[in-house]
Amino acid sequence: MNMKESAQHIYHVPVMCEEVCRLLVTRPDGVYVDCTYGGGGHSMAILKRLSPKGKLICIEKDLDSPVHLIDDPRVFPIRGDFRHVANYLEFLGLGKATGILADLGLSWHQLDTVERGFSFRREGALDMRIHKHQELSAQVFLAQTSEEELEYVLRQYGELPHSRQVARRIIQQRNQRPLFTSTDLKDALEGLTLRGSHEKLLACVFQAIRIHVNGELEALRKLLQSVPEILEPEGRVAIISYHSLEDRLVKNFFRTGDFEGKVRSDAYGRVLRPLEPLMPELIRPTEEEKAQNSRARSARLRVAIKPVSAYDESPGN
Ligand SMILES: C[S@@+](CC[C@H](N)C(=O)[O-])C[C@H]1O[C@@H](n2cnc3c(N)ncnc32)[C@H](O)[C@@H]1O
Repeated sequence: MNMKESAQHIYHVPVMCEEVCRLLVTRPDGVYVDCTYGGGGHSMAILKRLSPKGKLICIEKDLDSPVHLIDDPRVFPIRGDFRHVANYLEFLGLGKATGILADLGLSWHQLDTVERGFSFRREGALDMRIHKHQELSAQVFLAQTSEEELEYVLRQYGELPHSRQVARRIIQQRNQRPLFTSTDLKDALEGLTLRGSHEKLLACVFQAIRIHVNGELEALRKLLQSVPEILEPEGRVAIISYHSLEDRLVKNFFRTGDFEGKVRSDAYGRVLRPLEPLMPELIRPTEEEKAQNSRARSARLRVAIKPVSAYDESPGN
């Protein structure tokens, strides 16, 4: 039985766990933050590398996650949103962080819980909320949105080239009868003939709505902006992303400190950037890991370090 076949019994299988720990945990006595606890796979692996003095703050937004059940005096569980990571660290009074991890996206548990409506492959309520008590669900959004707003969401967060046609079709269908389930949304798009596969279209539409409903890119931007302030000098940040929208923000921010990738220099031509990529390229799962865990296929890991000085000393760089 491979990991996918046994998915029902597993909360989540962490991606690139060895690589993350090797690159992130540089000091066993340090303070680490796992921004996306999920089922705790990465957290447990990090904990194994910490000394009795090490600390691990585990943040998770989803009420289903067992983050509050960890029984280890080195762990500080927080049910919250990682966009507030700087506040949590200040509140706990543990000082600056030695390493910060964010493994973005969804857990297997979330994807496999049909009622949560994250997957278009099985029928479930059009919910898609990571935090169950949040007001905006996919259903509420689709019931209230305008064609213009929906087109914007599909273009920005689904990178759909035919966002206008798709938005128009969804709004037409919604005006005839409300969209309650993932199948209703799928049916609304039935027969829409556009270039590219229908499966890809559904994946992009579901992704776009999910990102919008949960404010996922805003949360990532806030997290990245907090990182230089909360990391200790030579501290590291590791981000695993699963689609190009997230990865672009991470790549640009690590290289330039700007989400668009705009380089800022001081009067001496020294590049001003709060972080430096630890290596020029991203890391992907090995073929072996992808064969074991097909959900790891799109994962990309980037790691950056906070330089002792915020300046890049290389002339003209
Ligand atoms: C890919 S899973 C992480 C899995 C985890 N690394 C493990 O080993 O089990 C991503 C997790 O991040 C959580 N999450 C997403 N956005 C969040 C946010 N803004 N704040 C806190 N947690 C978030 C999701 O609920 C999900 O549990």
